Formats: sequence, structure tokens, C-alpha cells
Amino acid sequence: MTAHEQHIAFTVGGQPHAVFASPGARLSEVLRDHLGLKSVKVGCDAGDCGACTVLVDGRQHCACLIPVAQISGCNVETLETAEPDLRSRLQKAFLAHGAAQCGICTPGVMMAAMELLQITPLPTEAQVETALSGVLCRCTGYRKIVTAVVATNRTLPDSVRPLPGASVGARLPRLDGQPKVDGSEIFGADYAPEGTLLIRAVRSPHFHADFVLGDVTAWAAARSGIVAVMTSADIAGVNAFGVIPPLADQPALAECTVRYLGEPVALVVGDAARVEALDLGDFPVTWSPRPHVLTEAEAGGAQAPQLHAHRPENTLIRGRVVSGAPQEALRASAHRVTGEFRTAYVEHAYIEPEAGVGWLEGDTLVIQACTQAPVMDRDDTARVLGLPPERVRIIPAAAGGGFGAKLDLSVQPLIGLAVLKTKRPCRMVFSRNESMRSSTKRHPGTMTATIGADEQGKITGMTFHGDFNTGSYASWGPTVATRVPVHACGPYKTPNYRATSRAIHTHGPTAGAFRGFGVPQAAICQEMLYDELAEKCALDRLEFRKRNALVDGDTTPCGQKLDAVGIKECLDALQPHWHRAGKDAASFNAGSDDRKRGVGIASCWYGCGNTALPNPSTIRLGITPAGALRLHQGATDIGQGANTVIAQIAADALGVAIHRVEIVGPDTGMTPDCGKTSASRHTFITGRAAEAAGRALRAEILRLTNLSEAAQIIVAPGEVRVTEGRSSRTVTLSDLDVDAFGYALRAEETYDPPTTALDEDGQGTPYAVYGYGAQMAEVEVDLKLGTTRVLRITAAHDLGRAINPLLAEGQIEGGIAQGLGLALMEEFIPGRTENLHDYLIPTIGDMPEVVSILVEKPDPEGPMGAKGLGEHVLIPTAPAILNAIRHASGARITNPPALPHRVLAALRERS
Ligand code: FES
Repeated sequence: MTAHEQHIAFTVGGQPHAVFASPGARLSEVLRDHLGLKSVKVGCDAGDCGACTVLVDGRQHCACLIPVAQISGCNVETLETAEPDLRSRLQKAFLAHGAAQCGICTPGVMMAAMELLQITPLPTEAQVETALSGVLCRCTGYRKIVTAVVATNRTLPDSVRPLPGASVGARLPRLDGQPKVDGSEIFGADYAPEGTLLIRAVRSPHFHADFVLGDVTAWAAARSGIVAVMTSADIAGVNAFGVIPPLADQPALAECTVRYLGEPVALVVGDAARVEALDLGDFPVTWSPRPHVLTEAEAGGAQAPQLHAHRPENTLIRGRVVSGAPQEALRASAHRVTGEFRTAYVEHAYIEPEAGVGWLEGDTLVIQACTQAPVMDRDDTARVLGLPPERVRIIPAAAGGGFGAKLDLSVQPLIGLAVLKTKRPCRMVFSRNESMRSSTKRHPGTMTATIGADEQGKITGMTFHGDFNTGSYASWGPTVATRVPVHACGPYKTPNYRATSRAIHTHGPTAGAFRGFGVPQAAICQEMLYDELAEKCALDRLEFRKRNALVDGDTTPCGQKLDAVGIKECLDALQPHWHRAGKDAASFNAGSDDRKRGVGIASCWYGCGNTALPNPSTIRLGITPAGALRLHQGATDIGQGANTVIAQIAADALGVAIHRVEIVGPDTGMTPDCGKTSASRHTFITGRAAEAAGRALRAEILRLTNLSEAAQIIVAPGEVRVTEGRSSRTVTLSDLDVDAFGYALRAEETYDPPTTALDEDGQGTPYAVYGYGAQMAEVEVDLKLGTTRVLRITAAHDLGRAINPLLAEGQIEGGIAQGLGLALMEEFIPGRTENLHDYLIPTIGDMPEVVSILVEKPDPEGPMGAKGLGEHVLIPTAPAILNAIRHASGARITNPPALPHRVLAALRERS
């Protein structure tokens, strides 16, 4: 106990507790650190996200805003201590309705729901939306949360128990859901061994500066509790990481020069309480600020400061796809449209800031942190630290959202440095400000395009160029520059085509992967122009798209012949909604002067997996002598459902009940490489590996029993029973040799999609499988205020075979929420919006009704016909909304988000 600490008594779940704490300590810290109630999550420490919502005397509060002294004598409820019967019903409802994805917001959401349900046991949707309005969720799009809370005290769906071999297609609740709904899930900040030291980073206050460090040793010695200070001089390996190794350029700790606001230059490690309390503003570093550039337009200028000497004109990379004779085709077109569009930086805004912990196990450095790419983390961290990869083990903590940004290293090399230097466990937890300053963003883009059509409304040609602001370091800039030209025409037959792109360095935050790799930005450009082109052709906008939609046998601008193309089916599925919505809007508008309604439509296509590069996944499936069936899958489930979907595919391929499957990993020490959670690749690629492993294990069992493919397999304690008609045979597992992995029976299979490299004109096979979709937005625009309300989104997506419709709907609703943010409110301004009250993301009140239509056009290459879905679902939302705004009001928004002042400016321009 220190001089500042006081004895504070209160009850938690009715049980008395007393803590010695500073009276001003946040209740969230006290509950987590003193009482071990880790369901209380910390997302912002500012009352913005609501992840720390608890009940104090029955009322919901953000625990981060309450000084602990204020709850003296009060009763606090967290998810761990809440009333068991109601909690159990709520948990069942959340699981049954798919209301938890990553799970980081779930305890806070559930506590807010409990307050409501204790007062109003049978709430309406509107009451739920009001009660939950203080808690943000970045994954789900809120609709399933509302459904779950409404259903809690009503009838819950029966539990789903698919027959053996028949789990694919079932609305199976996520297999890893229970820890998410009971608050026991371990996220990056939730675990630390006894005696763990805390790491804090000293970060640049400038966008661009040279710096000189002073006497850091003397600075540390003058303060108690500091165990080590580290700078780039402590880095034994290569001080440059990056997701594309030949372009790796980002220092773990900057050397002499910083290139973005918040770049780390030193680490301070020590006793947690003391390091937490340090003022790092007096750390001995002298800054010499230099000129900086923040936009792609500024950075391309002749006088612009150059970020990397070996990348002239700040150009990281260029992309290009050319086919036919686009200029000639455009000249000869009966109709042409052209336009320029500019999009903003967009923040991932996952509710969990980056966090992790590391320790030594013998010679092995173990790091448990939130991530989307464990093997890549291992290799990159080892390279920075100068260790062989086998001496680094990455155990992914649960990731509280990722959406692309947790593909890049964040805390991992910094934790590794500290552990190796101190030889003690060390942890690092980014504040919200640190997270938003240092994490990657969606690339801002400046895009111009011209599209032509003939008299019949058939597209004749297109030219496109996009400059994308890739920020200070390479990250995924090359992927965006490559992927955009492949996709910039949308899912429409375009016989003559030229699409080019550049990724340009600036001193803004590094732009990286964010759900779609640049394709959502390009879709805004192409789909808004297609609306204008349809009008020039005097065609209905949906009809124009159907007339030009790719079909089986068509060739893309890359020269790839397609099959299993489902875009026309998606557009057909929207047709009845389109007619109804058009009539509804016209009838509303006839009676309204100040508010007008409109309908917009947009499509998407998206290649699943890396662009024209190998990206294999390997799955191991084994049966132990005791009869446990284990699926080793290294695919990180960041909420999208890989743990469930991959298990469903494996179980059905083997022909067993899904509930027999135990999931192992991901963990680089225990699971083979399944690659990254990116590019909507796991259902397709990891799923194909799981299907192959399941079939191989089944074939081995059938071989041992000499029965045919029609036989049924039951994995039971100590044995595998196989029956076919009246024949029944048993494999006694203890009779078999046990392999090096501890299995009596095992299969391990790898799948790498058949792509080819692209030539200099972008010709080749960039992806083996594409998914397709189309969305329709109905909006209401206030012509006086410039505000836009989205009333409904109808989304039709071709996902091949729907492995799990419940989770697929969750992906659609979550992607739509992020697309709505892109269209209407999200704009990250470096240095100004690095918190969740200046940077706004959709709340529960912003989300409209979502009608999901699953179109299943099986792909022969996908596992059981499945395609990817995760990124596709975001792509059409923003252009559909922007097209609806124009339809409603005439406002042509070319620089989203469509903030009210931009809508009003566009209306003035029109008039
Ligand atoms: Fe709500 Fe991930 S499930 S933030």
C-alpha cells in the first residue's frame, strides 16, 4: 500500500470486497487488476466504446470513467458475477443468434442488455437499441445483437445438432463461442505471468523529424522501477519488418529519423505501476522537425521530401492491367462518362487495442498477442531479433477485431526485445491513442476513370488510374496497387481496359490491409460512374448492370476465363426489392419537400486469396489412441468464424459428427501453417486443405476396415467404428503405432490455389476463385441539414456453398456496417482524430434493417463449392449508399464520407 492508496469497500455480485487503491484509480483497472474480473474490457479509457460497461447498483456505467472511491458502498455487477439465470439465457441467445463475433465487446454489450432485461423482460427492438447505444461493436453490425436481446426471455431456437457428415449448410452456432459470451476469452491484455514487467514506448510527436537520444541510462537511473531502456542500438537482427519481405522497411524502433506521428524510438521497461505512472515527456531525446507531406498529391510533387531514397518520387510500386484498345473503344463509344473521386484514410477501429505478453521457455521466446498472421509474425519477429524462427513461438491471443491491421507486426518485436534484454516476462498494451496513431489504415485514394458504352448500353471500354496514399512504410501497399487494377471494372464484361495504380509514400500513418485491399475505394469510383452511364444510356440502373454482368465463360481484363460466376443471380435476387423500393421512395417523396428518399445499387466481385502468388494452407487432422479427434488449424479466428467453418468442412469430409472435433491452435508450436487471415482466403483455401485432410483420414480408415465409401464412421473412446449395411468393423486405436504427433491415425494435407503470375500487362490468373455480390441501399436525405439516414440495405451475395449461413449473415451485416461508415462518417485525420469520440464509427442507432440473401452458385475449385465472403460484403455498401443519396437528392458525392457539409455543398453545386 502506498501513501496515496485508500481502503475502499464495495460489493461485487453481492459479495463484499475491499481493495487498497488510489481513490482516483479507474474502476475498470481495479476490477481487472485487483479482482481478476477480466470480462471488463478496456477499449478506450474515455467512455467512448463501452467495452468496460458494468452495472453499479443496477445501472450501466463505463467502468473506465468511474474513480474507484465513488463506488464505496455500492454493488458492482460484471459478466462473471451477474444474475446467473438471466446471464445463462442471454448467453444462449447470443450463441444461437450469432451475436458475438470477435467477442471483445460482448461482455459490455451483455451488461447493458442485463440492465434493460431486469427492468423490461420483453423489450422491443427500439428499447434494445436505446439501451445498448453506449456500447460500440465493430464486427457484427449490431442486428444479431438486437435479435438476441429481444429473444432472451422469449423462445430460444432449439440447439443445432447436425447428423454425422452433414454439418455443412447448418446454422451452427460458433464452436468457440462460449468463452466469448461468458467473458473468459483471453485477449492480448488479459494474461500475464506473475512478476511481468510493463513496456511503454517513447513515440515521435512529429510527422517527420531527425532525432538524437540523450543519456537514457542516467534518465532511467534517476527513476525508480525502471529495469531497462531500449533503443534501436539494442536490435540484434535486421531493424526492418514488413509483410512483403523484399520490401520490408519499417524499423521496430526508429534510427535517427521518424517518418510518422507516433513512431516509436525507445522502450521503457519496468515495474508495471511505476512505468505506468512515468511522464515520458521528459525522456532525453532532441527532435529536429523536417518538412512533411500527408497526401498523395503533395508527396508526388517535385519539391516533396523523399521518404525512402531508393523509391524515387515517393513511389513504392505501380500496378497495371491492360487489354484490348481502350482509348479507341472510348472514342468510338456512343456514351461516355468520366469522373474523379477521392477517399479518406479509414481507421480499423477494432475495439481491442494491440496487446500481448512474452516470456522465455528455455531458449524459446514465446509471444502471446493479438494477430491475424502467426507464422508471419514469428518469421518477422525472429528476423528483427536476430533469432532463428524456430526459437520464436507465437500463440495468438483472441483478437478483438482485426479487419486487416493485425496482419502487420505491432507489439511483437517490442515485447521480444524487452524479454530478451530483461530475461523476464514483459507485456505491452497500446492505449487507444497509440493504437490509432501507429496502426495501419485504409489507403486514401485519388481515382479517375472514363467508361464508355454502345447504343445498347453495353460497356465498350474503361480507363482507370488510382493514386493511393500508402503512408510511411510499405506494409500492404503493393497488394493494394496490384489488386485494384484487377478489380477496377467491377463484375462487368469490359472488352477494352486499362487500369493503372501507384502506391505513394507520405508521412501519414502507414496504410495497409483493410477489408478489401483498395477494392472498396475503386468500387466507389466505378459504381458511381456506372449509375451515370446507365442514365446516359436511358437504362434502368439495375438493368444496365444485368446487361453487362459477367457470366460463365466470360474473360476478365486479365485474360482469365471464368466459371461459377454468380453476379447475375445476385442482381436477379435484388430485382423485386428494387421495384418495391423505387415505388416506396417515389410515394414518400410526393409528400415531402425537405426530406427525400432514394435507392442505390452497386455490385462487387473479389478474388479470394493472394493476388497471383502462392498462399498455401496446411491442415492436420488426427485421432489419438484415446479416441480424441483433433483438428490442428493455424487459421486465426478474429471473429469471422474460421474455427467453426473449417471444422465443419473437416468433419463432413471425414464423415463424423461436428461435435466430435476438438480444435487445436492456432499456435506456431502446434499447428501447421495456414497462412494469414486475410484476402477472404480461409473458407476457400484452408477449407480445401481441411476437406483434403478429412477425406484422406476417411480413406485410411476405410482402407483399414476394407469397407467402401458408403460406410459410416464413428470416432468413439479408444476405437473407430465403421458400419456399412450389416457389416460393422472396429479399429482398436491402441493396436496402432502412435506417431510423432501423438496420433494413432493422422492425415495432413496442403492446398495452394492454382494461380499464375501476371505479366507486365497484368495478364494471367490472379485468383482461382472469385465471390460476387450486389447490394441495394434505401436512404433518406434531409435537404436542409445534409444528413443521410440509411433505411434498409438488401444484400445478395454469391458465396458458392454457404458452409454456415448463420455466420455468413453475420459477415454480411458486419461488412455493411463498415461500408456504411466508409460512406457516411469515417475519415481519419492524422494528428486530429486519434480517439473514438473524434473518429466516429457506426453505432447501433446508425444501423438500418439488413436483408441478407445468400446466393449459392458452387465453385468447382472451392471446398464443397464454397467461395470467400468476408471482404466482398463491404465493397458494394458505400457506392450503393452514395448512389442512393444522388438518386434521392441529386447530390453527387465524389469525396466520401458524405458528411452533411459535403452533401449540402454538392446540393449547392447541383442547383
Ligand atoms: Fe463486437 Fe467484435 S463482436 S467488436
